[in-house]
Amino acid sequence: MNLSTRTLSDTSQGRTAAADILRAGGLVAFPTETVYGLGGDARNDYAVARIFEAKGRPRFNPLIVHVASVAAAQELVEWPDIASHLAQAFWPGPLTLVLPLKPGTGLSPLVTSDLPTLAIRMPAHPLAQALLAEFDGPVAAPSANPSGRISPTTAEHVIDGLSGRIDAVIDGGACNVGLESTILGLSEGPVLLRPGGLPVEVLEQALGATVARRASGDALTAPGQLASHYAPGAQVRLNVASPKQGEHYLGFGNVDCDLNLSRAADLTEAAANLFGHLHQLDARDGHQIAVSPIPETGLGRAINDRLRRAAAPRS
Ligand code: TXA
Ligand code: MG
Repeated sequence: MNLSTRTLSDTSQGRTAAADILRAGGLVAFPTETVYGLGGDARNDYAVARIFEAKGRPRFNPLIVHVASVAAAQELVEWPDIASHLAQAFWPGPLTLVLPLKPGTGLSPLVTSDLPTLAIRMPAHPLAQALLAEFDGPVAAPSANPSGRISPTTAEHVIDGLSGRIDAVIDGGACNVGLESTILGLSEGPVLLRPGGLPVEVLEQALGATVARRASGDALTAPGQLASHYAPGAQVRLNVASPKQGEHYLGFGNVDCDLNLSRAADLTEAAANLFGHLHQLDARDGHQIAVSPIPETGLGRAINDRLRRAAAPRS
């Protein structure tokens, strides 16, 4: 693919152009509160196939569908009471629900990789909401990065990774959460499939119950969760209190470092900075990034999940 990728502005003209591209089966990257997504019409086989191609994503890894409202979600999936409860508490927001797919929805089977379930969410970013309302249909959108690489939190990150492979990116500034959505499986009991922008403790409080963690090695329920992922070009070393000579040091808290996720040791600030700081350190000379220890609580769980994947041996 060698397209000339347009950068659209967050104006009524830009949004209309983006919706027109989606209607024509094209691909538009757009901001959500978590990360930028690479959107295509979820009912159009050709558009969905192009998403996989642009990212170099394995076909067995299903996509999240983005909708403008709870009513739009209910047209696509079975909707138990627990979904109503969670949507009322956390939608729009960084929570994806995995629910049984209804028959006859018209969604491309490529979206779900032929699984009987669909991952669905209603994003909170005003530009994402405006685009979904204007397009008036379900938008399949994985994170807008080449498969396996760091997720994008600015339009520039999208261009760096996917320029020439997508039709457009609509620029809505930096994403404020900075980590992908929390994914909760609901097709049986609630199961955490991916820690993310909504801390699991907050979910558990709303449910008044503990949420089961995905059994490790259970590749089918969370197909994208196992391999090395979020990988910068550089090697990554975790839980480092004193970096070695030549390492770029990504700090947390009051430490002497090259870039700090949050000098005040604030996990919300650290989450928002994580991918952008990794992109920046990766662009510098040198092949080693060392990272401060991050507490394994609240958003720290999702931050550590992404860092462990960034540090995992590459396949
Ligand atoms: O915040 C987010 O969730 C971002 C923004 C753009 O919405 N999207 C995102 O998509 O992170 P992606 O494709 O990078 O990650 C989606 C994850 C993958 O790990 C995939 O395996 C999982 O969702 N997934 C999708 N459908 C599923 C299903 N039916 N059952 C279990 N996991 C599913
Ligand atoms: Mg992703």
